[in-house]
Amino acid sequence: MINLGILISGRGSNMESILKFLIQDEGSKVRPKVVISSKPEAEGLEKASKFGIPTSVISNKLKGWEFDKEIIGILQQYDVKPENGLVCLAGYMRILSSEFVRIYKLRIMNIHPSLLPSFPGLNSQKQALDHGVKITGCTVHFVDEGLDSGPIIAQKHVEVLETDTYDTLSDRILEQEHLLYPYCVKLFSEKRLLIQDRKVIVT
Ligand code: GRF
Repeated sequence: MINLGILISGRGSNMESILKFLIQDEGSKVRPKVVISSKPEAEGLEKASKFGIPTSVISNKLKGWEFDKEIIGILQQYDVKPENGLVCLAGYMRILSSEFVRIYKLRIMNIHPSLLPSFPGLNSQKQALDHGVKITGCTVHFVDEGLDSGPIIAQKHVEVLETDTYDTLSDRILEQEHLLYPYCVKLFSEKRLLIQDRKVIVT
């Protein structure tokens, strides 16, 4: 079994899609253990409680590694450990310290609203519109020490329409995110992700 910790900062719709998926996935090998937020006002906290998942908020007085040490402490308390755990970043708006990434090596995933390596960082949907690309999408990847640069697990494409605004494009990408992230969590739990250098092979 894999013990899952989810890190959020806001709305938490990706977290919700993962939790919904796990509930209806008979024989799931994933146990959601805790949702941790970097912001006390995150809407996702209430959503997590509705699923009966314990939640925790990290004090924003802490900085850098001190902040991450607190997270790791909570993950360990809920038995989400490097040997049995998976940490999903779902709209988590902080960069992880390299210590955190090293301790949970290849056990932290993130979802990003573009086809990486295009448009990393913030406002990827706006970057895609401004650049005039015809196709964008979303990516689930393992987290490494760089910005949205870790090994790519899976991607889904979304066509950019001439009439698209930031909101319409973001909504269509989000629909795909909600399908892609649970699928990747499942692949991980079934040990179907084989990592060779920076390539992730789905077996
Ligand atoms: C999503 O677009 C995700 O790709 C990005 O942040 C957004 C989070 O949305 N990393 P939500 O909090 O999951 O609703």
